[in-house]
Amino acid sequence: MDNYSEKISERMWNQPDKGELEAEREKTFIDDIVQKAHIERELLQSLDGISTAFDGGAGCGRFSILLAKHGVRVTHFDISQPMINKAREIAEREGVADRITFVKGALEDLSAYADRSFDLVMSFDSPISYTYPNHEKVIGELVRIAKKRIMFSVSSRLGSVPYLSNPIQKNQFILDKNSKDSWVQWCLSSREQMIEGFSFSKESVVKAYETGLLGDVEETKEAYDRGEVPWCVTYHFMPDELENILKKYGVNNITFAGPGAYARTIPNEILVKIMNDQKQREDFLEFCHMYDSNPYVCGMGKDNLFVKGERG
Ligand SMILES: C[S@@+](CC[C@H](N)C(=O)[O-])C[C@H]1O[C@@H](n2cnc3c(N)ncnc32)[C@H](O)[C@@H]1O
Repeated sequence: MDNYSEKISERMWNQPDKGELEAEREKTFIDDIVQKAHIERELLQSLDGISTAFDGGAGCGRFSILLAKHGVRVTHFDISQPMINKAREIAEREGVADRITFVKGALEDLSAYADRSFDLVMSFDSPISYTYPNHEKVIGELVRIAKKRIMFSVSSRLGSVPYLSNPIQKNQFILDKNSKDSWVQWCLSSREQMIEGFSFSKESVVKAYETGLLGDVEETKEAYDRGEVPWCVTYHFMPDELENILKKYGVNNITFAGPGAYARTIPNEILVKIMNDQKQREDFLEFCHMYDSNPYVCGMGKDNLFVKGERG
């Protein structure tokens, strides 16, 4: 893909409404609530000895702002200007903008940063997966600039391949059917059509399972060259594969989690009920964290495979 991944990401994530939409995710989808709550819990448990952090693909600041609120000086790095603008607006509102350095850049080039520049290096909700075919090199670079700890989440192969047999999977996680969010409305209005048009294709499931790729490389490049805004081809990792990559780069004490593994067993009506009761919601998210951290389910979260490790 040469530097196509970077160019495609840049065009896609720089669409003007991206910042606004991403900032609302946790008001619209329960799987996003579970995933972000899991990451938040992990981060807050891992702040000992951390005074600087690099957030790669930091989006609208869900985690860079959280850490800034806890006194960490954060470099908020993202390929999208609309995301950075939204993050800056939220950081200013929350009074922590002076602790955050906003940088527009691509994860494919971290040469501006010296080895061991940041106590903690993080990258959540799949930015690394969007850098295919450079994902392994990007992980190496993220490890290189980390001093103590690295935490990130990438697209999960075991978690995502079920989408190919269940095109209405996201419907299970809609929190508010009356939301104005265009994706929510698309999920609801196209549900019957998706069921009607569905047929199980062993070939495409096996292909995604074996290659880890969702999206066709040549078709995506052609669409980009025609001036369209295609979704980036994403690389989906297996846990053991990711563990080997991290070990190769010298990361130790590696642990995994699969946020969403528990929630995906529960139908929408029950999830909505739990989310709308504050006590049940808090207890549920706490238990999800416990269950989803079990190594036997870690690959089977929803879209994201979470990993953390120490730099020796
Ligand atoms: C789904 S959002 C996640 C945002 C944030 N990390 C979170 O968890 O809420 C993915 C982010 O990755 C950024 N991104 C995608 N490809 C990138 C690349 N090659 N380099 C830097 N950022 C990238 C996008 O602009 C977007 O803000």
